[in-house]
Amino acid sequence: MDSNKPFSKVSVILFLVIFCDKVCSYDTSRVKKHGDNAHEKFYDINSLLDSWQEACQSESGGIVSVPDGTFQLDPIEFEGPCKNQVTFQLDGTLQAPTGIINGDDWIKFHNIDGLIIQGSGTLDGQGASAWQDKCPSCPPLTTSLTLSSVTNAQVTGITSLNSKGYHIKVNKGGGTTIEHVTITAPEDSPNTDGIHTSEANNINILNSDIGTGDDCISIGEGTQNINITGINCGPGHGISIGSIGKNADDGSVSGVHVMSCTMTSTENGVRIKTWTSDCSATVSDVTFHDITIDQASNPIIIDQQYCGGSHECGEDPSHVQVSDVKFINVHGISKSEVAINLQCSSTMPCQGIELDTIDLSLDGGEQTTASCSNVNATYDGSQNPPPCSNSLYHRHL
Ligand SMILES: *[C@@H]1O[C@H](CO)[C@@H](O)[C@H](O)[C@H]1NC(C)=O
Ligand SMILES: *[C@@H]1O[C@H](CO)[C@@H](O)[C@H](O)[C@H]1NC(C)=O
Repeated sequence: MDSNKPFSKVSVILFLVIFCDKVCSYDTSRVKKHGDNAHEKFYDINSLLDSWQEACQSESGGIVSVPDGTFQLDPIEFEGPCKNQVTFQLDGTLQAPTGIINGDDWIKFHNIDGLIIQGSGTLDGQGASAWQDKCPSCPPLTTSLTLSSVTNAQVTGITSLNSKGYHIKVNKGGGTTIEHVTITAPEDSPNTDGIHTSEANNINILNSDIGTGDDCISIGEGTQNINITGINCGPGHGISIGSIGKNADDGSVSGVHVMSCTMTSTENGVRIKTWTSDCSATVSDVTFHDITIDQASNPIIIDQQYCGGSHECGEDPSHVQVSDVKFINVHGISKSEVAINLQCSSTMPCQGIELDTIDLSLDGGEQTTASCSNVNATYDGSQNPPPCSNSLYHRHL
């Protein structure tokens, strides 16, 4: 990729929209419900793919542009490699088909080096029509925006609304910056994680507002070197590492730096969760720094007895080694008395857990407590709640 060349030389603006009467077999029932039929438009997938091809094959870089307006779009995959950087300019709203749809991804970018996704537009996953039909134990529904084997990507400005499953997924690749995005889904929507990463490295997630029915950000297996800064999270399940250790080939997680984030009315604040299984992996070099908790049920939690919400966990303790995890300046209001809950593996106790300057109270100012098992912890600075009395190793600096 040559970033010195202006990517705007070839602008492929898509004017080709096909109106409802040409594609009524697509979804007439839905259109009628909307009452604004004259403005309902459908993107013709082939024309969108044609303009992608043109932009992707441009030596000097190209643009694919979605103008103002609301457009229906079937699942689509933008495939590289491309000759230079490609910009996907999203100014309008793209709507996914209603209901549960086949496939893991709605809008997927694959095998691209140098991608910019920007604009003030919205990806509307129309999740409400799908969540009601999801069976609770089934895997997450379709992801709205997937970057798969994409390197050097920037995602800026866009809104992701009501994804069916995850909102944004970064899988493989890296050098990804996601900033100034808004991600919204109701608190009770199933598995609508805001941003999920896996098998990817060198990721920045910055200055964004994320409120969903699951983790605001979930840092999955094989994620290395990720900075998360300036996130307003809530509602949702907080910022989580995991779950790790479900599958034998789960890659390890390291280099996680979460800074200056606020959790408002979340289930968890900052969390690490690993499965009870004999699959081994490691989670290491993790820092949660300057975290404000505004009503979270579990402000600080390590859960190594995770088994996907099912009540009967396996016999095996987790074989994921959690080490070198720092919680520095975590403060605010806990919704439950146990503000710090560190439940580590009996076969692989957590090593090098450091708690530095913690201040978590109940809403009325009452004292919170800490609960630990199999934890090797170090304490520094003031501690509210007081340190666990049963840490394996306990040093107050
Ligand atoms: C994360 O932040 C650290 C410290 O500011 C920096 O050294 C590192 O390069 C950043 N990582 C990424 C992926 O940008
Ligand atoms: C706890 O950590 C200290 C310092 O790293 C180490 O010396 C000690 O062996 C650890 N104890 C246990 C029980 O893991």
